[in-house]
Amino acid sequence: MEDKKILRKKAIEKRDSIKAELILKNSEIITRKLISHPWYIQCSTLFIYVSKDNEVKTHDIINDAINRGKNVCVPRIAGKGNMEAVLIKNPDKDLKLGFFNTYEPEAHLTPVSVKDIDLVIVPGLLFDRKGYRIGYGGGYYDRFLSNVSNNCKTIGLAFSFQIKDRLPIEHYDRNVMLIISERESTGV
Ligand SMILES: Nc1ncnc2c1ncn2[C@@H]1O[C@H](COP(=O)(O)OP(=O)(O)OP(=O)(O)O)[C@@H](O)[C@H]1O
Ligand SMILES: [Mg+2]
Repeated sequence: MEDKKILRKKAIEKRDSIKAELILKNSEIITRKLISHPWYIQCSTLFIYVSKDNEVKTHDIINDAINRGKNVCVPRIAGKGNMEAVLIKNPDKDLKLGFFNTYEPEAHLTPVSVKDIDLVIVPGLLFDRKGYRIGYGGGYYDRFLSNVSNNCKTIGLAFSFQIKDRLPIEHYDRNVMLIISERESTGV
């Protein structure tokens, strides 16, 4: 099997070749599916990435969750391989451009306990059918997911072209419980 580095590079090339309109249209479909899912409806503290480039867009999900009165936390890089979950109330005010050209919570906002999170929304360049994933290669989500509480649910968001039958897995890789794409919801 090809190694992760090559898969990662090809996956970024493929993803970035997709037209903006299609990314937007399929992100809307994925958003609708997620926000009607019981795990989402029932969660009180949500951890969700802030999308960039051609990732599945999360802005509408973040706004929906805030409007529903959920606690919404997003990642802030806190050192190599380590991210914190920081509560935001207003994305326009609370986020600024940080590491990796990603919008992150302002420095003055304090992190919440990872154990309070009951749903994590995970990005990925590629997912396999067991929910294993390839991200940008920092191991950020592998570490993060190994620290969440036992009751916490995890959902990966992906366009269907990012879902493969099998991916190379290392012992430290963590999978998600469910993948939502514009075509399918794959429970694992
Ligand atoms: N729980 C962990 N503790 C310490 N190091 C870890 C842990 N999980 C992963 N790593 C390290 O992270 C590095 C990158 O992992 P990997 O290639 O799987 O990245 P990735 O899953 O694509 O990245 P990301 O999670 O940031 O999207 C590996 O070198 C691995 O040793
Ligand atoms: Mg990994």
